[in-house]
Amino acid sequence: MEKNNTVIISDDRNSSLAKKISLHLDVEYKNTELRAFADGESKIRLDNVAKKNCIIIHSTYPPTDRHLMQLFMIIYKCKEDGASNICVVSPYLAYTRQDKVFVDGEIITVNLVTKIFASLGTTKLITVDSHSPNVLNCSFATIDLTAIPSLSAYVKKNMTINNPIVVSPDEGGIERAKKFARLINANILSLVKTRDRFTGDVSISLSEELPLKKRTALIVDDMISTGTSVIKAIELLKKNNIGDVYVICTHALLLDDAKEKLLKAGIREILSTNSIPNEFAKVDLSSVISDYFLKQ
Ligand code: R5P
Repeated sequence: MEKNNTVIISDDRNSSLAKKISLHLDVEYKNTELRAFADGESKIRLDNVAKKNCIIIHSTYPPTDRHLMQLFMIIYKCKEDGASNICVVSPYLAYTRQDKVFVDGEIITVNLVTKIFASLGTTKLITVDSHSPNVLNCSFATIDLTAIPSLSAYVKKNMTINNPIVVSPDEGGIERAKKFARLINANILSLVKTRDRFTGDVSISLSEELPLKKRTALIVDDMISTGTSVIKAIELLKKNNIGDVYVICTHALLLDDAKEKLLKAGIREILSTNSIPNEFAKVDLSSVISDYFLKQ
């Protein structure tokens, strides 16, 4: 990475993470001024970045479509200025959950998002613990980093957990949960989640009988959105006499009253990264992201 020619760009919303990355990498930071008008339109202003290697830090959590549009605007400005490279780092990248057409007539929306990225001149896309990294099948390079080692290191250093069992709320998340379990030296339990493709209703069952009585469950998932998946998992674990329950995720969207619902379900703690600003973001992603660039 050419330090003198590289610039980290973000709006205010992503500036805390972006500034830390610029410090780790020892490169310039540039703020994009972003304004949203009453009618929902946005306006950006960014200094000229001609011939620069631009690294844009921009998570696309809700309001998702507004934040995506703002990201498109930043990429467009970099391209118009004549940036040498445009690397988009979207620690939380929206639309990765739909990785196939489940019901006739649907589209895989993330394909549309990445096509827009490509048409705007994006040269690389980096995300973290993408729900479906396989879906990021683009004409430019894509990198899916992982926060699992950082989350597990936090747990090892800061929590005293007896007789733990790592739980994946669904089979899709099993590899992430297995990795987490290996790192803290615990067993793993994968639950089976089914979702009604028309109503969206979720049901969760046990894939195997394991002695759970009084054990400490660490539920590991890529994201908590409404909290429904995790709450269903907790109900099932409680029926099987589990002890304490901790919820660990990379992306804590925590929409509406998800936090209250999770606390009411009896969890001890939520742990997440700062891909989305939230009160449980105790694991900082700046080293995970910076380390990737330092190794280039
Ligand atoms: C989906 O399979 C994901 O891994 C998460 O389990 C899910 O998106 C979480 O959403 P919610 O919190 O609304 O259940």
